[in-house]
Amino acid sequence: MSLHRLNISHIRNLRSVQINPLGRLNVFYGANGSGKTSVLESVHVLGLARSFRAGSTRNLVTHGEERLTVFAELASGGGVGRTPVGVERAVQGEASIRIAGEDVRSIASLAEHLPVQVINAQSFELLGGAPATRRQFLDWGVFHVEQSFLATWRRFQRAIKQRNNILRHDKIDSGQLAAWTQELAQSGERIAESRQAYAQRLIPEFESVLNTLAPELDSLTLRLRRGWEERTSYAEALQQSEPTDRERGYTHTGPQRADIRLSVAGHPAAETLSRGQQKLVVCALKLAQGRVLTREKRQHCVYLVDDLASELDKQHAERVCRVLEELQAQVFITCVDKSEILDVWPDSAPDLSVFHVKHGLIERDETVKSGSGDHH
Ligand SMILES: Nc1ncnc2c1ncn2[C@@H]1O[C@H](COP(=O)(O)OP(=O)(O)OP(=O)(O)O)[C@@H](O)[C@H]1O
Ligand SMILES: [Mg+2]
Repeated sequence: MSLHRLNISHIRNLRSVQINPLGRLNVFYGANGSGKTSVLESVHVLGLARSFRAGSTRNLVTHGEERLTVFAELASGGGVGRTPVGVERAVQGEASIRIAGEDVRSIASLAEHLPVQVINAQSFELLGGAPATRRQFLDWGVFHVEQSFLATWRRFQRAIKQRNNILRHDKIDSGQLAAWTQELAQSGERIAESRQAYAQRLIPEFESVLNTLAPELDSLTLRLRRGWEERTSYAEALQQSEPTDRERGYTHTGPQRADIRLSVAGHPAAETLSRGQQKLVVCALKLAQGRVLTREKRQHCVYLVDDLASELDKQHAERVCRVLEELQAQVFITCVDKSEILDVWPDSAPDLSVFHVKHGLIERDETVKSGSGDHH
C-alpha cells in the first residue's frame, strides 16, 4: 500500500495542502510548530478516521473551521490501479468515509485498505503503559492477517458485556448467565487461539529485527499471557471463577486480561531498559508487525515516524532506517533539520521526496535527489 497524492484540508494549521507525487520515503522538516506532526496525523486520519494524538476532533480541525477532509489515491503493491480514499469529519459527529467512490460505514474497512503504524514519543506506552495498549497492538496484527478475527472479537465484546450486565444485578438469572457464559467461552477461546497463532509468527520476526537494531539486548524475551490459567480451557476457567464473578459483579478472567510480557533476564523491560533501549524495542515490535503483514498478506504498512532522532544515537537511528528501508514500506518521517534523516538513511534510498514545512505550507525541496547522498 502506498499513497500517491495527498490532499489535506483544515487539519490543525494545514489549511489547504496538496502533495503530489509522494515518494516511498517522505521527509518533512521544519521549525517547531510548522505543521510536521499534523501531516502525519492527516495520513493517520486517512487510515483510521482519527488522530494518534489524544484529544477531540474539535482541536484536530483547524480552529474556526467546521470540518476536515483528507483525500489520497492508494496504490497496492503491484502498482496497477489506484483507489481514491477520502475521509471527512465535522467538528461533531461521525466520520464519513469514501473508498473508490462508495460510502463506507466501517472504520475497519478503511483500516484494511491502509494499515498504518506510528512510531513517536507516545509509542513508549507500548512498554510502560496499561495492558490494553499491548492488547491493541496485538489485535491490530491479528486483525490484518486473519479475516474472521473482527467478527469473533465483536462476538466476544458483546458476550462479555451481556454477561457483566447479568452479574451486576442483585438477583442473577442463572439460565441467562449460563447462555452468555457459553457464548463467551466459545468466542474467547477463539480470540486466544488467534492471538497465540499470531504471536508465534510475530516473535521470531521481533527477535530478528531486535537483533539488527540492538544486538546487545539479546536477553530480552517476549511472552504472550492469554488471560487465564495454563492448561485449562476457557470454559473451565469461567466455571471455576463463577463464584468470584458473582461476588464481584463482573467477569474477571479471560482474553480481556491478556498481556504481552517483555522482560530482560527476568526483569520487566519497562522498568529496566533505558529510554533509548525502550524506543528500540518499540521500533522492533512495530517493524516486526510490518514484516508479518508483508510476508502473509503481501501488503505494506505505511509508517508514520515522528521525530526519530529523539532518544536515539546516530548508530541506532541508522539501524532503524535500514530496517524501514528493507521493508519497502512507504515512510513519512519528520525532523527539524533534514540532515537528521538524510545522514542516517541508507544510501540506496530509491524514491525520496523531501518537503520543507513552513507555517502550515509545504514546499518540495528540489535540492535533494534520490540516492545522490548530495544534500549538504
Ligand atoms: N486546531 C488547530 N487549529 C489551528 N492550528 C492548530 C490547531 N491545533 C494545533 N495548531 C497549531 O498547528 C501548528 C502545527 O503543529 P504540529 O504539531 O504539526 O507542529 P510540528 O511541526 O510537528 O512541531 P514540533 O517540531 O514542535 O513537533 C502548531 O503551531 C499548533 O499550535
Ligand atoms: Mg511535531
